[in-house]
Amino acid sequence: PSAQSTPDGTTIDNNCSSEKYADVNWDELGFSMTETDFMYVMKCSIGENFDEGSIIPYGNIQLSPCSTLVNYGQGLFEGLKAYRKEDGKIQLFRPDQNALRMKAGAERLCMPSPSIGKFVDAVKQTVLANKRWVPPMGKGSLYVRPLLMGMGAALGLGPSPEYMFLVFASPVGDYYNKGRKPMNLLVEDKHRRASPGGTGGIKTVANYSPVLSAQARAKAQGFSDVLFLDAAMGKYVEEVSACNIFAVKGDVISTPQITCGTILPGITRKSIIEIALALGYKVEERLVPVEELLDADEVFCTGTAVVVTPVGSVTHQGKRVEYKEQGETVCHKLYETLTGIQTGRIEDKMGWMVDV
Ligand code: COI
Repeated sequence: PSAQSTPDGTTIDNNCSSEKYADVNWDELGFSMTETDFMYVMKCSIGENFDEGSIIPYGNIQLSPCSTLVNYGQGLFEGLKAYRKEDGKIQLFRPDQNALRMKAGAERLCMPSPSIGKFVDAVKQTVLANKRWVPPMGKGSLYVRPLLMGMGAALGLGPSPEYMFLVFASPVGDYYNKGRKPMNLLVEDKHRRASPGGTGGIKTVANYSPVLSAQARAKAQGFSDVLFLDAAMGKYVEEVSACNIFAVKGDVISTPQITCGTILPGITRKSIIEIALALGYKVEERLVPVEELLDADEVFCTGTAVVVTPVGSVTHQGKRVEYKEQGETVCHKLYETLTGIQTGRIEDKMGWMVDV
């Protein structure tokens, strides 16, 4: 439909190529929340199906003070981006992959989850309703944040009787600093992020705040972020607080394997592996000892928010190692290919982009 009405009577213009833009200084976008017009909400009670779901004005939500989200961390989030192409059309990057990841997380946290089709449709509706907030091509993207939350009360530990699936969005630019300047990482030697059999491999809300104190310590010393090591031995590289990590040595690209369930299976991670293989690199998913990272030619991070960001240095036990970051780096080649596909500059032979 070219127009749709929200429950409060607001009309949304569904014409994707409309030239209208929100009043945003697109050159100054960073990674912070800019409130947009609408969000999508869909609810269900345990044992029942989700309701129809609808687009409503962006705003606060109500939940029980005794909700399992707030008390027991029964919540998941996702992150994906919508990009504007040169012709003004808007596309999403692999939204089905986020839907599948949310489904896996929901099973782990005993929550009902939307079907893949419902998830993707909700994301599309959210983007369309907020299309004036999708930055012009090359100026950033619309970051879409689907949430799945236990909203009902459970005082004794148990699953919530009620759930909400919500999708909101914000225009964003670079995550760490403008121009994707290289990150300086500090290897965290006190805290561990996840252990085998735990929840490190799902996008539970509870995986992110435990990172904050280590991150704050590192930032106070001038680092961009922290790099976590494995919980059992403190020997192998796992992930940075908000992204996955890769090391390059010659034409071999290595990244920590996700098979132990301690590392978030990033959709950008997976896509970069596929792009690297297609470009002729050898890719190894395996245990990566921290010493190997320190000995790499290049190091970079991947994630929806960080895209592909070079690492300028890693500091471990007082030793700082600096990496190649100038010229034709592997990181730059992978970044250009990925963002080329995402913005329509490069043909999407993988079939990753989905029209809104
Ligand atoms: C993302 O990259 O989309 C994430 O969810 C990481 C988040 C901590 C910003």
